[in-house]
Amino acid sequence: MADPNSYLITSPIYYVNAQPHVGHAYTTVLTDIIARRQRLNGLSVLLTTGTDEHGAKVAEVARGQKKTPKRFVDEQAELFKIAWQALGISYDDFIRTTEPRHEQAVELFLRQLKASGAVYEGVYEGLYCTGCEAFVDPGDLQDGLCPFHNRVPETVKEKNWFFQLSKYRDELVKRITNDKIIITPEVRKREVLSFLARGLKDISISRENQPWGIPLPFDPKQTVYVWVDALINYLTVAGFGADKAKQAAYWPAACHIIGKDILRFHCVIWPALLLAVGLEPPRQIFVHGFFTVDGQKMSKTLGNVIAPEDLVAKFGPEGARYVLVRHITPGEDTDIGLDKFSETYNAELKNGVGNLFARVLKLAQKTEGFVISVPEKHTATDLIRQSWASYHQAFNNFNLAAALEQTQRLVAWSNRSVDSEKPWTINRPDELAQVLAPILEVLRHIGLQLLPFTPRTAGTILKHLGVKLPANWLPSQFAAFEQWTPGVILATPATEHLFS
Ligand code: MSP
Repeated sequence: MADPNSYLITSPIYYVNAQPHVGHAYTTVLTDIIARRQRLNGLSVLLTTGTDEHGAKVAEVARGQKKTPKRFVDEQAELFKIAWQALGISYDDFIRTTEPRHEQAVELFLRQLKASGAVYEGVYEGLYCTGCEAFVDPGDLQDGLCPFHNRVPETVKEKNWFFQLSKYRDELVKRITNDKIIITPEVRKREVLSFLARGLKDISISRENQPWGIPLPFDPKQTVYVWVDALINYLTVAGFGADKAKQAAYWPAACHIIGKDILRFHCVIWPALLLAVGLEPPRQIFVHGFFTVDGQKMSKTLGNVIAPEDLVAKFGPEGARYVLVRHITPGEDTDIGLDKFSETYNAELKNGVGNLFARVLKLAQKTEGFVISVPEKHTATDLIRQSWASYHQAFNNFNLAAALEQTQRLVAWSNRSVDSEKPWTINRPDELAQVLAPILEVLRHIGLQLLPFTPRTAGTILKHLGVKLPANWLPSQFAAFEQWTPGVILATPATEHLFS
């Protein structure tokens, strides 16, 4: 059992055959925001991301660029690190599947799997889509093509090692039904259960003639199937086979964040593999929908791929984080576009939070000594309480768009309040302080709610309100922040750099 104060949260590890795009960025930002909130909630968070570097697909692209796979993956992994740095991703570990620590973990895992008696030798005869890096069922094809990659899968016949996936079906149904493995949102849980109800086939866990991979420890002429290799990354980062105390604290993983395209790997194959070696499956898997861009699937051929750096260039790192998570509702696909992002950015950040902050602080400076105390009960007390309750509930459902809706409710209230109270007409500092107090207090809560989303901006707001911040905005002081403390302005604000 993992330590209840420890929280291992993971993003998928991304294939390095392509450049990072807005879809990858969405998953990673979402994971980061949840991790930041859990840190603020006082948990000892281990946030991991990384790159999936083996397999036929990566080898194929490296060959196309006339590079060795090693050189190619080294270059590509850097691009992901750069993108995540630009977006302020607070990862604690970045795992690459070509690292020795991972190769060792995979080797150990496969030895244990073999020892469990759940693997056997056989011949795979059928289809393989290199795009998916998956063995595909003829029934899943559309007009003979893989529906995800629009390409004809290869027909392969090779010696493989198989894993008795079918043996774990009943146990998986039980654990998923009674939420021992929580799959969120509900619609994805139902999808997995109906897939399980149709029965499971055993799966191949190795490849012959696929040299860009980790050799199978008990048959080194074969390499480990890239998906098995990739899934084990979650154990590597938890210290599997290398650091007992770390593994005891962080395993089972608290939460895997994934897109709906990799549901079966995470909700069926992964838990079954873990059960086979006697390890606990992850506690929770959150599955998000997909982005389309202006109504179309993002693709190189259509030329509509949005890169994370395009977003950062247009909206800054924090604006990019905000607009990315503001549109997706769990369980649904979302159509996005730069125009939509600009609209949100302008309405909610620049003219919303940014303007409000600049406007109110300028007025507050007219109060004597810049010290304002907020009474225990004021016009926004109930609003603040309700807004936090809904904010937390939204977060618990991974609905970050709904959480931000609550923050925007506070922004709207404050703007209305400023418009109706007309504080700029008040000359007496004590009277002005009284009128501004609830507005400043709401602003403080806006800052607190924004901490996981736009940490630097939120920190700036709070600092200018005289609210003490943890050293790096991250540590575990969320509860303390929420407790009542009178709002006191200690510094003269510099607001120009906020969302502009
Ligand atoms: N390497 C595997 C994952 C292994 S995890 C043990 C893989 N990589 S991937 O590069 O294809 O990235 C997959 C993830 O990127 C998806 O699960 C999803 O989270 C995200 N997205 C990729 N395209 C996306 C959209 N168009 N929209 C939203 N998310 C998208 O699969």
